[in-house]
Formats: sequence, C-alpha cells, structure tokens
Amino acid sequence: RIRQVRAYEILDSRGDPTVEATVELEDGSRGTAAVPSGASTGTHEAVELRDGDRHRFHGRGVLTAVAHVNTEIATCVRGMDAEDQAAVDQAMITLDGTANKARLGANATLAVSLAVAKAAASAHREPLYRYLGGAQSRLLPMPMINVVNGGAHADNPLDFQEFMIAPVAARSFGDAARIGSEVFHTLKRELAEAGENTNVGDEGGFAPDFRTADQALDHIVSAIEKAGYRPGGDVVVLLDPAASELFREGTYHYTGTDSVRSVEEHVEYLLTLIDAYPIVSIEDPVAQDDDEGWTQITTSAGAVCQLVGDDVFCTNPVLFGAGIRNGIGNSILLKPNQIGTVTETFDTAAMAARVGYTTVMSHRSGETEDTSIADLAVALGTGQIKTGSMSRSDRTAKYNRLLRIEAELGDHARYAGGSLLAAGTA
Ligand code: PGA
Ligand code: ZN
Repeated sequence: RIRQVRAYEILDSRGDPTVEATVELEDGSRGTAAVPSGASTGTHEAVELRDGDRHRFHGRGVLTAVAHVNTEIATCVRGMDAEDQAAVDQAMITLDGTANKARLGANATLAVSLAVAKAAASAHREPLYRYLGGAQSRLLPMPMINVVNGGAHADNPLDFQEFMIAPVAARSFGDAARIGSEVFHTLKRELAEAGENTNVGDEGGFAPDFRTADQALDHIVSAIEKAGYRPGGDVVVLLDPAASELFREGTYHYTGTDSVRSVEEHVEYLLTLIDAYPIVSIEDPVAQDDDEGWTQITTSAGAVCQLVGDDVFCTNPVLFGAGIRNGIGNSILLKPNQIGTVTETFDTAAMAARVGYTTVMSHRSGETEDTSIADLAVALGTGQIKTGSMSRSDRTAKYNRLLRIEAELGDHARYAGGSLLAAGTA
C-alpha cells in the first residue's frame, strides 16, 4: 500500500524544470519517476501545467503541479494498493475532474502514475517491464534512431523535424545499437567532409544548415552505404516531418525553400520521397487538423509505408477512436505524457492491437534520465521505439536501459527488427 508520495522540481534536457515524484510503500519499497516535455506538442495533448510566474524559469516553473502531488494527490492515493495501477490512475483522473488533466496537470499525474508502477515493481522484486508486461515480455523494440534534427528541435532552416534510421536486419537490440552508432559516426564524417555543421539538436541528431529534406536524405543514404550496410535492406529510413508545425490556413509553409504547398502538393512531395528513398515510416506526414491530407496520404501510401499518428491521436483513446473510424494512418505513437497515466497509455496500446495499428513507444524532445519508456516498450511488446540519437545521455539512457534488459533476458530476448512495421514494409 502507498505510504507516501512526494514531488519536486528537477531539470530536463533543455534545462527547463519538470516534475519528479517518489512513491514509498508501507513495506519500504520506492519508485521514482520524472516526466518529459515536448516542443512540437499536439493541440489536444493532456495539459502540462506550468506556473506562468515570470520571476521563476521564465514562467516555466512547475511548482503548482508539484504542490498538487504533495497535497491533493498524495492524500487521495495514500493507503491505496500500489499493485492496482488502474485504480490509482482512475482516482487521479476523477480527482482532476477535467477531460485533459487541466486542473492537476498531466505532469503531476504521470509522475505519480509511473512512480507507483516502479514502487510496485520494486515490491515484487521485478524489473518494471516484467511487472507491467508479465513473464512473456521479451521483445526488444526496433530503435528509430534520430540522425538529423530540424523543425522545432534545431535552429537550422530544415523544415522536417526528424530524420531517422532503423537497423531492421540486426540480429539483436545490441546489434541494432551498434549499427546505429556506426552509421551515426559515418554520417558525422560525411557531413564534415561536405563542409556541413555537425552540432546536434534537441534529440541528439545532427543539425546541418540544410534547406530541403532531399539534402538530408542523400547524406543519410550515403552514410548507410559507407558504413557498409544496404539502404533499404539492412538499414531503413524513417521521417517525422511534424507537419502540424508547417500548416497554416490550409497550406504547408516550407521556410527552408520559402515556398508554399497545397495539401495535394505536400502529399505528392511525400510520395516522391517515398519513391526516391528507402523510407518505410512517416510520422505526422500531414497536420493534426488536416483531415483531407490524412485521407489522401493514407489512401495513396498506406499500403507501402507506415503512417504514424502523433499530434493527430495524442495517445488519447477518444481521438484515436475517431481516427480509426476515419481510416487515418496505420500506426500510433505512444507518448505517456500526452495522456497522463500509465493505464491510459496501455488502454490506447490495447486499442491499437485490436484494430491492427502498429505502435511506437516514444520519448519527448525535452527528456530526463528517466528510462521508463524503455521498459514500457518491452512490457507492451510495441516492437518499435523512438528515443533519439546516438548522442546525449538523455537519449542514450533509454538505449542503455534496453541493452541492460537484453542482457538480463539473455537467450530469451527477441529483437523485433522490422517485423512489426505496418504495411509489410520491411
Ligand atoms: P516533441 O517532438 O516531443 O517536441 O513534441 C517529438 C515528436 O514530434 O515526435
Ligand atoms: Zn512527432
């Protein structure tokens, strides 16, 4: 049973404050969890409560959310059974009373939700992935490794936010991490030789002064080859244009080339990229409120490319349900802080499984050293995880956690490779 819940402010990878909570059970077991924070957030995400007090952290303090944990939430969940995750999460949802955690803050509820799960796992003397996923949890996800940053994650003119690679042909997660690291370093050399900047962006990928996606993709494909792998065979390419950030008044604004594309032209452009490069997955190919664009891209590319909904679904069962009815996309990104509890994240994943959408566990661009999402990916058997580049400890912490899980599982570990990509694209 839960004896005590405490929260405090810590710093995320951008140096902004975020919420960390520690839960202590009556048997002395403890769990601690910190929540991440996005930069290109979906309009309908659960509310990340910020103080707005300009005298602290430029208004980004989270002392209100922290206070909610230390007072109302602590009182509400004290004495509850930590193993009954659904009951604890439901108690917080009811206490909050809004549809989007606007009162308590999803940063408050998620910190407690994850810390409760970790404390219960500790009481069971089980790793988090096995406690949450059961004895059969042994599928290590294919990492979508970020190698080039643009959009809201870097100060370069590149419009698309994320360019990623995935070692589909690797034999194990460790093998995938090695291949990812080799390609990452080869790309660094490749960029340096081309006279490009090799500084990294928020998610640890390089942020050269490219103006078009083609420039980034040409260098990435070249780096895959130079590292000794077959583009499309051994290592595939994945995109997150984060297109909501480009969409204004019905059109897509490409600042890198100072051009505007209609919905049709934008979708057509993505189709030419899918044709020209070994791209097997595109997240948020069109904007969250561009229903027409989502229908067009799903109709024209859904059979050959995984189309992952991030901003459009926000890990929210209601939004996801509407998307499923409208036939939008074929995959969903799972970001626990978009919805605010472990239980709801699992509910959304279960929904995806029922309707045959693939799932991708995901970090945020502002992260901490918390590695819960690595365990969640294994517990849910998502088969895919997006957690940044092969640099920055906030990103490699998740990869390292997965390496440790693989080592712990030994012969029982399985690596998903491209087997769980949507649309048989692997
Ligand atoms: P965010 O970006 O965490 O800044 O929202 C990640 C994403 O768009 O997938
Ligand atoms: Zn995204």
